[in-house]
Amino acid sequence: MPDHSPETPPALDWRDGVLPISTQFDDPYFSLANGLDETRHVFLAGNDLPQRFRTGFHIAELGFGTGLNLLATLLAVGDTRVRYTSFEAYPMAAPDIARALQAFPEAAAVAEDFLTQWAQGLRRFQLGPIAVEVIVGDARATLPAWGGRADAWYLDGFSPAKNPELWTEELMAEVAAHTAPGGTFATYTAAGFVRRGLQAARFAVERRKGHGHKRHMATGKLLE
Ligand SMILES: C[S@@+](CC[C@H](N)C(=O)[O-])C[C@H]1O[C@@H](n2cnc3c(N)ncnc32)[C@H](O)[C@@H]1O
Repeated sequence: MPDHSPETPPALDWRDGVLPISTQFDDPYFSLANGLDETRHVFLAGNDLPQRFRTGFHIAELGFGTGLNLLATLLAVGDTRVRYTSFEAYPMAAPDIARALQAFPEAAAVAEDFLTQWAQGLRRFQLGPIAVEVIVGDARATLPAWGGRADAWYLDGFSPAKNPELWTEELMAEVAAHTAPGGTFATYTAAGFVRRGLQAARFAVERRKGHGHKRHMATGKLLE
């Protein structure tokens, strides 16, 4: 079913013609040199994936952006049927997503089905073994209203300095409230206020080595 809720596509600048930068947040959607590698390191390995995948496993994400994390998950999941719910306030237009994905041939090679459905306005669709739903709106309003619970969270807002509303203690408490027992999160940032918010929300937070030259990232498991 097409979702007819109004959408506000983000204003973009393009660095080197290929890297989308949000004009509103003044921040890139991913790092050009190694966006797909970074996704694999931070969000997949950070959640101990693909090892934990099993039928019905539910991933949730703050910040859908170009769908690169979804496609990295598709490349990793094999035949296991899983769910993927992402929260996004400013869905990108399909041609912009297609342009951004050109930087990652491995992801672009499996993106056609996604881009076709996205261009049709579908925000709930099947992508191979993955049942995808992108919930459009400000996550501060849409996450509290969500009825689901994720086994693994990808926390992928713009940098906490530039997009602090996606990293507040209140929102991290909502992430925890929408995490299944034994569930985990991973994020590229190790910013102190983000880690403290996640700890206050009853995650056992761990700093791990970040991707490439980045010193740290953060992961965590919901305490019993
Ligand atoms: C770093 S980008 C996400 C990159 C993405 N995961 C990918 O694979 O391309 C951050 C995303 O968070 C979204 N965002 C920022 N503030 C938001 C909010 N309050 N609610 C929901 N989404 C928000 C932005 O529109 C942007 O798409």
